[in-house]
Amino acid sequence: MTDRTENQSTAVSFAVRRHAEPLGVPERTKLLTDPGFGRVFTDHMAVVRYTEGKGWHSAEITARKPLLLDPASAVLHYAQEIFEGLKAYRLGDGSLAMFRPDANARRFQQSAKRLAMPELPSEIFISSIRELVNIDRDWFPTVDGGSLYIRPFMFANEVFLGVKPASEYLYLVILSPVGGYFKGGAPAVSIWVSQHYTRAAPGGTGAAKCGGNYASSLVAQAEATKHGCDQVVFLDAVEHRWLEELGGMNVFLVFNDGTLQTPPLSGTILPGITRDSLITLARSEGLTVREEPYAIDQWRADANSGRLTEAFACGTAAVVTPIGRVASPDGEFKIGAGGPGQITSRLKQKLVDIQHGKAPDPHKWVYRIG
Ligand code: PLP
Ligand code: COI
Repeated sequence: MTDRTENQSTAVSFAVRRHAEPLGVPERTKLLTDPGFGRVFTDHMAVVRYTEGKGWHSAEITARKPLLLDPASAVLHYAQEIFEGLKAYRLGDGSLAMFRPDANARRFQQSAKRLAMPELPSEIFISSIRELVNIDRDWFPTVDGGSLYIRPFMFANEVFLGVKPASEYLYLVILSPVGGYFKGGAPAVSIWVSQHYTRAAPGGTGAAKCGGNYASSLVAQAEATKHGCDQVVFLDAVEHRWLEELGGMNVFLVFNDGTLQTPPLSGTILPGITRDSLITLARSEGLTVREEPYAIDQWRADANSGRLTEAFACGTAAVVTPIGRVASPDGEFKIGAGGPGQITSRLKQKLVDIQHGKAPDPHKWVYRIG
């Protein structure tokens, strides 16, 4: 594929067309007290178009409304689609801030590359979010621990049924005021080990954030739910033995010598920004973090012997969520006391404090929106 970012402007200016009939204040206020996750959406959206030969154009902030798609639109047939997930947080002085949007912008480019899509310049990614959050800032939820979940995404919009990279794309951003990802704020979640289904194979799309990865995870997630578990954990596709990640979160293990371990970025798991931030925070307080493979049999043995004291899942949506119980067709085991462990809680607090501007930000992770 040719480098489609070449010779094209990296900046666009957004035309702002305000919603003619935004939701009324009483209705909005009601929604913001208990929005749940991913069910409530703000009044506006950002849209940028890409056309081969012309580059990125027609950037606008406009009313959020249904899209008009031709039935032959490429995405509906071959799933050429990628997305991102990040959050805007409220700082102590009332202003809003994003957490590491530059990292999401880079990952969006990596995902685009893998799916043979054009790479959106970081400037456009970040300014689209900045403009949209500014216009819909009154949609920040009032629920405790709430944030504005930001969902940038891009899909192939060429009207053509041949199998090839499309020549037209739509990039959009929508916003969803959210509370916790898990119902009831779950002190610890239970995990089902998928023995039959895998998420990603070497050479596949595991490290890209593309819709297809999530489509293929749903049947395994349904199996987890059927067995009374909150989430599914996938094993590697070659040996069905090594821990990879959950359907929408990375995984960490904490041992009784105070060290941590997480599966390496081998190309089959998503390089989580929360994962990377926690590794940095843990190492900066002197903890050892190994990025090494960990076998499912070892997990069971270490949990039973007491060598493993804590485990947690992490991601933008889930933040840091302790894993209390692991189940599979071979039986189940509990981790530690089945609730949040000390190291898990401490790292979570450190991360959340930086995100909310309550602790110093030595890594310059927080981008103020205003
Ligand atoms: N793994 C998968 C499959 C995910 O969908 C996510 C969430 O985006 C993560 C891991 C965690 O990534 P991040 O911390 O960047 O949100
Ligand atoms: C996120 O954490 O942003 C995700 O995309 C994962 C999904 C489970 C909501």
